[in-house]
Amino acid sequence: MPIKIAVPRETLPGERRVALVAEVVTRLTQQGIDVAIEQGAGVNAYQKDESFQESGAQLHSDRQTLFADSQLILRVTAPSVDEVKEYPRGAVLVALLQPHRHADVIKALQAQGVTSFAMELLPRISRAQSMDVLSSQATVAGYKAVLIAAEICPRFFPMLTTAAGTIRPAKVLIIGAGVAGLQAIATARRLGAVVEAYDVRPAAREQVESLGARFLKFDVDAEAEGGYARELTAEEKIQEQAMLGDAVAASDVVITTAQIPGRPAPRMISPDMVAAMKSGAVIIDMAADSGGNCELSKLGEQVNHNGVIIYGPDNLPSQLPVHASEMYARNLWRFISLMIADETASLNLDWEDEIIAASVVTHDGEIRHLQTRQAIEGVSS
Ligand code: NAI
Repeated sequence: MPIKIAVPRETLPGERRVALVAEVVTRLTQQGIDVAIEQGAGVNAYQKDESFQESGAQLHSDRQTLFADSQLILRVTAPSVDEVKEYPRGAVLVALLQPHRHADVIKALQAQGVTSFAMELLPRISRAQSMDVLSSQATVAGYKAVLIAAEICPRFFPMLTTAAGTIRPAKVLIIGAGVAGLQAIATARRLGAVVEAYDVRPAAREQVESLGARFLKFDVDAEAEGGYARELTAEEKIQEQAMLGDAVAASDVVITTAQIPGRPAPRMISPDMVAAMKSGAVIIDMAADSGGNCELSKLGEQVNHNGVIIYGPDNLPSQLPVHASEMYARNLWRFISLMIADETASLNLDWEDEIIAASVVTHDGEIRHLQTRQAIEGVSS
């Protein structure tokens, strides 16, 4: 039997994205799948109820009808415990679940017999690239971080030759050249800034240079498993801060994006380094959500520290909700296509598929994701 997909309105304060957009709903309904959307679910992402209806979705104002008989529930962020209690037993939930932050929700999903998948747990393998929400949302965040920096910065980004004299271009330093950092470099370059960047993975050098930025050299190779960075040793951290000191002091804008999977963000900008910066310099700390790359960052707040403005934005992708939702919905569509049988449009979970197996959090009343189980139940296997 074709499945019914339900998309509730996001409930996290400030969240403007929606899990499906009309373009993806059309593809699903053309496959014979029933799509039910909560009224107003897309309003903050400029997805009108009417466009969902035109794509073949049913709109519901009450959640009981929305969730009734639904086998697949799609969200951007984790639901509340109360919402989980409304899900049909045995339903499948797909979202950016962040299980390490929502133990109560995970327990509720377990108790409700819901099979849940966390999009951020997808393996970063070639086959999963089209489903990679970490990359799509980091692209949005990297772009938006530069625009926010340009807005806060009391200086021009581009070089200008005017009757009032020549304005020198802003110097922008991007720390961490992963997906967000590379998009930040490209965006700052488009605005005419002179850009330098740095990463502990030497492989990032070529990508940084191909975007027209200068790569700061640091003689440490911290590339670890899966192409991610490992945490630096105490000695390497001291070397890193010494290497970064002059570059940070010379910059008009510093954008930090450094993250280590499963660990707090590395601290690399100390209060002393901030004190050495120019008056009116700006730091955008994209890692503020996971502890911050700058010791003085406060999540969601702009701090003025002796004339240096430090901002640690919260949920950047949500600040560009149209394209963030569009990219998220396309990623989700690719992912759920793995669990929908072609001919019958019915639900079919293939546990042999490494993408499905790696991203499951709860199934059959059990917590299947090892780290989450260890954190919640305290058992090692
Ligand atoms: P991330 O968000 O985990 O971290 C951001 C960046 O911070 C990374 O480039 C990391 O090397 C850097 N970093 C960590 N500690 C640092 C320090 N102390 N100083 C300076 N920089 C530091 O990374 P993201 O953007 O998710 O990408 C990580 C890797 O995964 C990259 O190699 C990327 O190319 C790869 N990737 C692979 C994909 C695939 O499908 N094969 C898809 C997306 C990313």
